[in-house]
Amino acid sequence: MPNNVHIYDAVIVGAGGAGLRAALEASKGCKTAVVSKMYPTRSHTGAAQGGMCAALANVEEDSWEWHAFDTVKGGDFLSDQDAVDVMCQEAVESVLDLERMGLPFNRTPDGKIDQRRFGGHTRNHGEAAVKRACYAADRTGHMILQTLFQQCNKQGVEFYNEFFVLDLIIEGGVCGGIVAYEIATGEIHTFRAKAVLFATGGYGKMFKITSNAHTLTGDGPGLVYRKGLPLEDIEFFQFHPTGLYRLGILLSEAARGEGGILRNGDGERFMERYAPTIKDLAPRDMVSRAEFFEIKEGRGAGPNKDYVLLDLTAVDPEVVEAKLPDITEFARTYLGVDPLKEGVPTVPTAHYAMGGIPTNVNTEVLRSAHGEVVPGFYAAGECACVSVHGANRLGTNSLLDIIVFGRRGGLGMAEHAARTKLIDIPDDVAKPSEDWIASLTDGQSPEPIAAIRKDLQEEMWDKVSVLRTDEGLGQAINSVAHLRERYAKARVKDRSKVFNTELVEHIELGFIIDMAEALVISAKARTESRGGHYREDHQKRDDEHWLKHTFINKTPDGDTRLAYKPVTMGRYEPVERKY
Ligand code: FUM
Repeated sequence: MPNNVHIYDAVIVGAGGAGLRAALEASKGCKTAVVSKMYPTRSHTGAAQGGMCAALANVEEDSWEWHAFDTVKGGDFLSDQDAVDVMCQEAVESVLDLERMGLPFNRTPDGKIDQRRFGGHTRNHGEAAVKRACYAADRTGHMILQTLFQQCNKQGVEFYNEFFVLDLIIEGGVCGGIVAYEIATGEIHTFRAKAVLFATGGYGKMFKITSNAHTLTGDGPGLVYRKGLPLEDIEFFQFHPTGLYRLGILLSEAARGEGGILRNGDGERFMERYAPTIKDLAPRDMVSRAEFFEIKEGRGAGPNKDYVLLDLTAVDPEVVEAKLPDITEFARTYLGVDPLKEGVPTVPTAHYAMGGIPTNVNTEVLRSAHGEVVPGFYAAGECACVSVHGANRLGTNSLLDIIVFGRRGGLGMAEHAARTKLIDIPDDVAKPSEDWIASLTDGQSPEPIAAIRKDLQEEMWDKVSVLRTDEGLGQAINSVAHLRERYAKARVKDRSKVFNTELVEHIELGFIIDMAEALVISAKARTESRGGHYREDHQKRDDEHWLKHTFINKTPDGDTRLAYKPVTMGRYEPVERKY
């Protein structure tokens, strides 16, 4: 076999929670490798703080149907209800599975997994907030990552760490592997596989203020888009209400679940006006919008009236120290503010992509809005859109999503591998990637890519974040096209092969530009407001025309095409979202 060609049954790209959960399941049935841009325990799942929800009913009465209702209503009725039912029904067993693997959940006094409140999670279809989030202090994602990585090692999963995916191999419409760049050596590798699963995470780095790690650049969905395959619901991006002022670092919603409240510059608990029943624990899209309105209407806090305050001073200090230790330290370290004594300056922060690579409930990737799949290709976690989160994800449903659909993806891959053979692929399948990498270092750059990235992030923040208009989106479409031209001329100065981080950042920026393009075009077309997509010029949800998913893809001539897919309805008909 030629050098740098690897053969597996299942190859998973990405070593966050979805990738590791998939690897664990697939490796029970077939030879499995994980290819990851990061060392696995540095994946962004480690930054998930507040919890993973499941209707365990350990602390208060609860049911998976209530959880499903909250997910659909929180998602502004764009969620596919068959997928929501799967997720909420499998939630309880998923948490217990992690407990059996050794995950150190916080406990109730009688030893059960403890649960706490989170935004949009309610008892009996909206009556009052319910305690549904299972948690390990404010380090739940970190604990999931450590637990799954240990289990994968025990199970013999093979890891290719610091390998950056460059290409997805599709021959005759069937997936046959990937091509990747080894960051430590600059070498190109081909991974042939019967099944490939993308679990590459989100793409929040297109925005100036984000809770996302530097690595979240949409590599997986960007590649899918370049292949001419569709992306789904990309216009729906979530802005989490409590990012640290200016920095965007996440302050978990668990702070409000434990009793923290939001105040404007007048000291008013403003969420009482926007969501009288569950107030600060309304879904994130509503709270982030409320913050933007408070600031826009001159009621922000601070010398420039450009933030609101997260007030934890009435919460028992022992609860803060025991259940929210990390975020307390973040506020102290990065802003010099002690949450036990004063309000923490807070702004909405770009947090989570509801849209992504379209899949069915078995994580098979869809090739079109009609539902046909790409055999051998799977996706799970934030890079995917199985459409459980609709237009706005509820807090703690993301850790649940990665575990439920990661496991389903692993199972699906193992079953697929058992009944298929490796497909034939051309001998020179890695050549386009080799040529591409060589071309990036060939010549002088008119400007550094950092300048292009900064301009993109500012434009996306100013025109495409919490509040959007037709005019602003039109300008953003032009800006992204112009930034793409600047990007095409840019070159990498550093020609070394070993840990060439300039080259890595260059490739990443290309994927962010792809995702920004898909987002702004999808958003301009959707002339309504729903969940995280709020149009100041179309402020109402319009179910008559827009109760449907957006599919966007690139045509062979480089244009984009939009198509739409009906939402899978179920028990819950759309109603006005009041909280
Ligand atoms: O606020 C948080 O702890 C974030 C949780 C989530 O995005 O699910």
